Amino acid sequence: MNIIYERFCLWLGHLKLSRVIILVSVILFVVPLFTHYYLSKYESMSISQGDNALRYNLEAFSDISTKNVADLKVRIEEMLRIKASVSTELRELEAKRGRLQREAAAASSKADNAKAEYVRAAAELQRLRVSADQARLAQLEAIRRDSPELAPPIQIVPLQPPSILPSLSPSNEINCRMFSCFDHSRCSLTSSFPVYLYDPDIYTPLTGAEVDGFLKTTLRQTLGYNAHLTHNPNEACIYLIIVGESFPFTKDTTTVSDSYKLYLNGSAITTLPYWGGDGRNHVLLNLARRDLSVGSGDAFRGASTGRAMLAQSTFTHNHFRPGFDVITPPALGPPGGDVWADCAPISPARRKYLLSFQGLQPPPKGLDKDQDGTLISLLEKMVKTAPASDVFFLQFECDPPVEKRVTLPIGDWALCGTDRSRRAVLRDSTFVLILAPADRNYVTTALLQARLYEALRSGAIPVVLGGDRIRLPYEEVLDWKRAVILLPKARVTEMHFLMRSFPDADLLALRRQGRVLWERYLSSVQASIDSLLATIRTRLHIPPKPVPHTVGLPAFNDSYFPPRVEPAAVDAEPEETLGPLEAPYSSPTYQRNFSVGLLHGYELWNEWGEPFALYPQLPWDPTVTSEARFLGSAAGFRPVGAGAGGSGREFSEALGGDRPREQFTIVILTYEREAVLAAALARLRGLPYLNKVVVVWNGPSSAGAGSWPESGAPVAVVRGSRNSLNNRFLPYQLIETEAVLCVDDDAHLRHDEIIFAFRVWREHRDQIVGFPGRYHAWDLNFNNGFLYNSNYSCELSMVLTGAAFVHRYYLWAYWRVLPAAMRDYVDEYMNCEDIAMNFLVAHITRKPPVKVTSRWTFRCPGCPVTLSADETHFHERHKCIQFFTQVMGYTPLLSTQFRADSVLFKTRIPHDKQKCFKFI
Ligand SMILES: *[C@@H]1O[C@H](CO)[C@@H](O)[C@H](O)[C@H]1NC(C)=O
Ligand SMILES: *[C@@H]1O[C@H](CO)[C@@H](O)[C@H](O)[C@H]1NC(C)=O
Ligand SMILES: *[C@@H]1O[C@H](CO)[C@@H](O)[C@H](O)[C@H]1NC(C)=O
Ligand SMILES: *[C@@H]1O[C@H](CO)[C@@H](O)[C@H](O)[C@H]1NC(C)=O
Repeated sequence: MNIIYERFCLWLGHLKLSRVIILVSVILFVVPLFTHYYLSKYESMSISQGDNALRYNLEAFSDISTKNVADLKVRIEEMLRIKASVSTELRELEAKRGRLQREAAAASSKADNAKAEYVRAAAELQRLRVSADQARLAQLEAIRRDSPELAPPIQIVPLQPPSILPSLSPSNEINCRMFSCFDHSRCSLTSSFPVYLYDPDIYTPLTGAEVDGFLKTTLRQTLGYNAHLTHNPNEACIYLIIVGESFPFTKDTTTVSDSYKLYLNGSAITTLPYWGGDGRNHVLLNLARRDLSVGSGDAFRGASTGRAMLAQSTFTHNHFRPGFDVITPPALGPPGGDVWADCAPISPARRKYLLSFQGLQPPPKGLDKDQDGTLISLLEKMVKTAPASDVFFLQFECDPPVEKRVTLPIGDWALCGTDRSRRAVLRDSTFVLILAPADRNYVTTALLQARLYEALRSGAIPVVLGGDRIRLPYEEVLDWKRAVILLPKARVTEMHFLMRSFPDADLLALRRQGRVLWERYLSSVQASIDSLLATIRTRLHIPPKPVPHTVGLPAFNDSYFPPRVEPAAVDAEPEETLGPLEAPYSSPTYQRNFSVGLLHGYELWNEWGEPFALYPQLPWDPTVTSEARFLGSAAGFRPVGAGAGGSGREFSEALGGDRPREQFTIVILTYEREAVLAAALARLRGLPYLNKVVVVWNGPSSAGAGSWPESGAPVAVVRGSRNSLNNRFLPYQLIETEAVLCVDDDAHLRHDEIIFAFRVWREHRDQIVGFPGRYHAWDLNFNNGFLYNSNYSCELSMVLTGAAFVHRYYLWAYWRVLPAAMRDYVDEYMNCEDIAMNFLVAHITRKPPVKVTSRWTFRCPGCPVTLSADETHFHERHKCIQFFTQVMGYTPLLSTQFRADSVLFKTRIPHDKQKCFKFI
């Protein structure tokens, strides 16, 4: 009945109103007509029937009376009345039934509600119980802790400049090492390594030559950016004096050593105000820059330098003191800033020339003269006998010729041509030959270093013949073996075979590593000065200065925060305990000040790290072994089932895993969308392990002062100084956890998805762990780089940071490692910050991101709606990938074909057992 009525209503509903009106009027007109007709007919019929009956009665009783007829009529009327009243009654009954039915429905829905309420309450109770348990555990831990937190160290610095001591006899200078010539008492472990720079305008220890003006300005500026610079000479650990650049040669010098004596004013050094009689803790810096083609010298040869350390590009074996003096690269690059534009792309692995060399043989002088002659003939023979596929570009004479005198004292191979012409050849070379100077006394020369610099910049893999007797810059910390091939000259005959034996992947790895080292440590004056100081600091085991935070501009002042209102319950949330609600708990910071350099010194210099700053935590921080957690190192760990393991309840109560307890911070970037933001905050209500929500308010208008929904965790609102998508990755001081969940304000993530992703991230701390996967697809039409792609695919190489966990370290890396050009590009196009982050993390780790399961297909947040917007969006993102690739020299993205699912997802388990998560 109901169904039919609904159908009818539906049908009626389908009719247009006008049609209904016509229909109704037709019915109104036609029905009375018919009624009249039938009624009159019925009357006549009933009368005629009545006549028959009468006739029958007449036959039976032969008693006719009009009274009976009237009675009959009355009875009929009565029947009709009864019929009417019965039908009214029926209608009433029907109404009553409906009412009862409604009431029953209401009652049953009430019962359902009560049941749901019960389930909710039970879940809430369970959650509260878990929270209470966890709080009790945390309290117990605090009480039991018998090793109190180490107080921040006081900075121990000396109060006076070095005292005057008798000078060192020149014959002992050669024996100087850190233990014999360095005063460690000025450099306490907690001193943070203050460096004092003698003003290069006042202290000029050169005679006859001024320190180059560019160098003076640049060095002063560069050191100004170095966090270790101090203006207080009393507290300094290291005193830096710029001696000048390489020594130009003059024609009138008769012997080599004379020419050096001529230029170093010994008394200018010994009268330096903090020299202390013997130059302890002084670093004499001779930075080669100008006139490299005329060679450069060992500035200190023949001069007395006391206990001072020497830093320069040219050293002889007799004078270089390993572990004490420092080999620096020549200052060939710009003062600072982006250097990528000078570099060549890393691919293809094999370039036009297998090997190139351009240089002028030194005049016949030096011990290797004969050997070098043989060397050249062997190389020429190699070229002749090589298969045609191996193209060589070897020039042992310069064209146009350079003056021969210039390489006189050292026996260096002079550079041919201009910087530009050499660069053109290097960009076409898979390998480049570098010959150690003919004079075997030299452990390094500025020209050799210049060749290394040029080679790495252009991505030609250096093959150093005579590599067994030379040293490369900062070699006590840098692992050059992974970027440079060092061979004894005796291996010249095997060189060709060796070069050909390398597979493409190794060629690319060598080239990439060379570029990483070049960019970080050699490329600019800033890079080489920072590296010089960091090398000495690393020797002393002093940690660097902590990395600076961004202090966000708070949107609300201390005394005011908009009122918080309880949001309406979100019905989509599963009735599932996902973890305890805890008080905010920040990740411990700076625990490894003195151990990170020991355990990770290699990686900091050569791999994922950087040695120039101390980070509060690193994604690669080690953890204790499994049993240690039960044998004394239990603090902070929350093993599942207290160590017994388990699924379901036990799992949801504890974080488990191999890491101590922690929480995460949500960073929401929002642009003037108060309602969207409020909904996003409201959705977070009751989310466990949430430490804080940091809202980056990116609009020009001030943040809304209306009421904000209570999200259950502290909310901090900071204003971007300008509207930039890069603000999403600022290392705000407000962020106090290692795990950072970046979300767009319109991303709808369920609680179980977030918690699962958090748990996955805890095991993949150096990767981006999140939901929306994208990939880079080769442009088959133009064969010209990669295109951004969001189509369905079983392979992905990016996880968008609109919903992804990243380690807090990468927020710093985004600003310190990524070339500024990439951030500028993001600002210019208001797009692609997520692609830039994926490039960065893949570049640092050489790992793809991790996609985690999501219960629903993730709605693409911020995806453009209209087709044309879609096209420009994709077009911009193709361009981003291509530009970023150009800047980094390669596309660092790596593909992955797997997705992280919870362990018992889809496992058939007995009814009395539980899964890890109910729904995922
Ligand atoms: C480690 O360094 C940080 C930053 O300089 C400092 O705050 C912290 O107190 C240091 N901790 C220890 C134990 O030295
Ligand atoms: C060497 O330095 C001293 C002290 O700075 C100065 O008096 C002297 O003139 C310098 N000698 C030369 C030759 O420049
Ligand atoms: C803080 O901000 C509120 C609202 O913006 C304002 O009314 C109040 O005067 C401010 N208080 C102070 C101390 O600046
Ligand atoms: C995605 O797939 C569709 C159909 O397969 C194709 O037309 C479109 O070009 C693809 N989009 C991209 C960005 O490759």
